[in-house]
Amino acid sequence: MSDYSVEKMSECFVHQVYEIENDLMGNANEQTILKTIESECLNYYILIESDKVIGFFECKILSPEAELYSIAIDKNFQGKGLSNILMNEFIKIAIDYGCDTILLEVNRINNKAINLYKKYGFSEYGKRKNYYGDNDAILMKKELI
Ligand SMILES: CC(C)(COP(=O)(O)OP(=O)(O)OC[C@H]1O[C@@H](n2cnc3c(N)ncnc32)[C@H](O)[C@@H]1OP(=O)(O)O)[C@@H](O)C(=O)NCCC(=O)NCCS
Repeated sequence: MSDYSVEKMSECFVHQVYEIENDLMGNANEQTILKTIESECLNYYILIESDKVIGFFECKILSPEAELYSIAIDKNFQGKGLSNILMNEFIKIAIDYGCDTILLEVNRINNKAINLYKKYGFSEYGKRKNYYGDNDAILMKKELI
């Protein structure tokens, strides 16, 4: 795991992030991703190995709340435990910014992500009915203090 690093996304990595996001979630927009670089509170952090983007998370930090908008690992690198590096880094960043709560929403059929979030102590506190077409979104949160 020591060859991997996590850093705030800079412009030169925007295209790689776009490709992973588009591949996994569809409908990604490179300009929208680029704009987050200038944002105060909305940011992408990327997982890198030898200048290659392996994964990322997008988050909004508006202390006392942090929100995880998305987290992704390139299809070719999934199943190796690499999302743990991103989750640990996100939680550390939220704590460093003085947040006391992390919020997220997830498609109720996304078992991988739900398991990942539960592993990190997130619990369900509500749902948004039919947020994903026929599927509900599950709202989850984790208290940091
Ligand atoms: C969700 C995602 C980031 C997890 O990364 P990953 O590389 O697949 O998973 P990892 O190997 O890092 O496993 C981390 C944890 O995820 C969960 N998980 C991973 N694969 C799983 C599977 N097939 N079934 C159930 N849970 C699974 C487990 O909790 C696992 O921890 P464990 O191995 O200690 O049990 C990745 O699958 C992904 O990019 N999915 C597409 C994008 C997405 O749906 N993102 C979330 C919503 S924005």
